Amino acid sequence: MTNHRIALIPGDGIGAEVLPPAQQVLDVLGRRHGFTLSYTSYDDWSCERYLREGAMMPADGLAQLRDKDAILLGAVGHPGVPDHVSLWGLLIPIRRGFRQYVNLRPIKVFEGIDSPVRGARAGEVDFVVVRENVEGEYSEVGGRLNRGFPDEMAVQEAVFTRAGVTRLLDYAFQLAEQRKGRLTSATKSNGIVHTMPFWDELVAERAASFPQVGWGQEHIDALAAKFVLEPARFDVVVASNLFGDILSDLAAAVAGSIGLAPAANLNPEREFPSMFEPVHGSAPDIAGQDIANPLGAIWSAAMMLDHLGHPRAAKDITDAMAAVLAKTDVRTRDLGGTASTADFTDKLLEVL
Ligand code: NAD
Ligand code: IPM
Ligand code: MN
Repeated sequence: MTNHRIALIPGDGIGAEVLPPAQQVLDVLGRRHGFTLSYTSYDDWSCERYLREGAMMPADGLAQLRDKDAILLGAVGHPGVPDHVSLWGLLIPIRRGFRQYVNLRPIKVFEGIDSPVRGARAGEVDFVVVRENVEGEYSEVGGRLNRGFPDEMAVQEAVFTRAGVTRLLDYAFQLAEQRKGRLTSATKSNGIVHTMPFWDELVAERAASFPQVGWGQEHIDALAAKFVLEPARFDVVVASNLFGDILSDLAAAVAGSIGLAPAANLNPEREFPSMFEPVHGSAPDIAGQDIANPLGAIWSAAMMLDHLGHPRAAKDITDAMAAVLAKTDVRTRDLGGTASTADFTDKLLEVL
């Protein structure tokens, strides 16, 4: 029987509340489809560890993850630790160190979900944000000067490389070919005069190799409005690191809740493990209450199974999610219900 070695990193806040439901679901699928998952849990890679030992993970953390087949992560961030310290101490080093340059974030309005957007109907809104995940606006280049003086300043450089953008675009165009054949590139070349015109040029250059894909570009500000006004027109949306980050929360809200949205941080060459995690964060405002929506983590686990070569098992999960939402009124508070995380998970397991 095939066994997959999975690293579990619950992290902080609701991260530790949404991973066990995902694991429960995974184990059902393993039994049904004839594979096993062996977990190594890195429970203390968290802000608590940072406060105790001054580091989010051990110095050889990446080496410990290196031989795993995939990583399942909850969320990182705690009010007592500056976010740039916790995230650059754990999540971002994994994305970068393992060259997970594609961040795939699908969006779907499920039947039974009341989208806050008028006209966002189930079956019509179904697209994916392909986010650049290792360069762009997220960069260590820059600095802070003259702290505490009137001439204090901060400089933050964005780094866009031909190789980095091109490999992402190729992934996005190929995905569009397999889907509905439409690609939208998020740009801001009217205001950002170096990186974004370069991005646009590379999009046009790569588009020439994918004649079957109809493509266009939209300025990020106008695109944000169109996500709300006409979400059904999108198929593949390709975006830089920061633009993709913002668009994916917006898209999740259009789909009903940020608690639903999944993400796959992919190293397409499979030279390193890929990482799967919900789009949402550690949600300190609801942590410890057993009310977090586990579907983002569960859907992320489905993406992991797909990546590990079990597309039918992955589909079982998304089908069960769809059935719970369409056929029952059991749902967590973010979706207008009253169910706890545990009750919602139990209902899903029952349907599964
Ligand atoms: P957040 O996603 O944690 O929360 C935003 C809002 O959405 C909150 O009101 C929260 O209660 C709600 N929410 C999020 N997930 C939910 C779920 N599963 N079910 C129900 N409601 C949910 O974003 P934030 O408030 O900007 O960040 C909180 C912390 O998380 C910060 O430290 C931030 O840096 C971190 N963060 C981490 C990740 C990650 O690890 N990938 C992602 C985003 C934010
Ligand atoms: C996400 C998060 C992270 C990001 C933060 C926490 C660094 O918002 O995964 O979307 O911006 O990538
Ligand atoms: Mn985000």
